Amino acid sequence: MDMLERNKIVELQAISTRFAEHVVHEQLDMTIYEGERVALVGGSGTGKSVLLSEIALLREPDAGEIMLFGQPVTQLSGQGLADLRKQIGMMFQQGALFSSLTVLENIMLPLREYQRLSQTLLEELAMLKLRLTGLPEQAAHLYPQSLSGGMLKRAAVARALALDPALLLLDEPPLG
Ligand SMILES: Nc1ncnc2c1ncn2[C@@H]1O[C@H](COP(=O)(O)OP(=O)(O)O)[C@@H](O)[C@H]1O
Ligand SMILES: [Mg+2]
Repeated sequence: MDMLERNKIVELQAISTRFAEHVVHEQLDMTIYEGERVALVGGSGTGKSVLLSEIALLREPDAGEIMLFGQPVTQLSGQGLADLRKQIGMMFQQGALFSSLTVLENIMLPLREYQRLSQTLLEELAMLKLRLTGLPEQAAHLYPQSLSGGMLKRAAVARALALDPALLLLDEPPLG
C-alpha cells in the first residue's frame, strides 16, 4: 500500500526535549500511519517514556511540532484538546493504577468519566477489556498491590483500552 495515501496518526516534526543541560531528543522526526504498530527500542534513559508522554499530551517538548490525527496540537485548546485526549489511551511504565480501587474499578474509571452508562454495562465493558488482556476474571476484584508485575501491566493495558482509543500508547507493555 502506498504510505503517502494513508492517514498520519502521529507526526513529530523536529522535536527537542531537554532537562536543563541534558538533551534527550534533538530534532526528532517520526510519522506513524493509521493501522501501524510501531515499537520504540532503545536503552534505558534514552527518552522513550518522555516521548510517549509528549505524544499523549502530558508534557510539552521544548521545541518542535506534534501533529495528532493531522492537527497541530499547539493550536488546540479547551474542548479541542479534551476531545483529542479521549482518542488516546496510555499505559504507563509503572502501571499507575489507583491503589484504592480494584482492577475493575480502575478500568471503569475512564468509562465513567466519559460515558453515561448503567453500572451493569460499565462493569461488563470493563470485564471485556480485562479479558482481552489475558487476565483471569478473578483479577477483577483484586487491588493493585496484590497483583504480580505482569498482571499489573495487563490491568494497565485494559484501562488504556477502556475508551477504544484511536491511538494506543504502551510504555513497556507485557510481552505475549
Ligand atoms: N522529569 C524529569 N526531570 C529530569 N530528567 C528527566 C525527567 N524525566 C526524564 N528525565 C530524564 O530523561 C531521560 C529519558 O528518560 P526516559 O524517557 O524515562 O527514558 P526511557 O523511557 O527511554 O528509559 C533520562 O535521562 C531521564 O533521567
Ligand atoms: Mg521508560
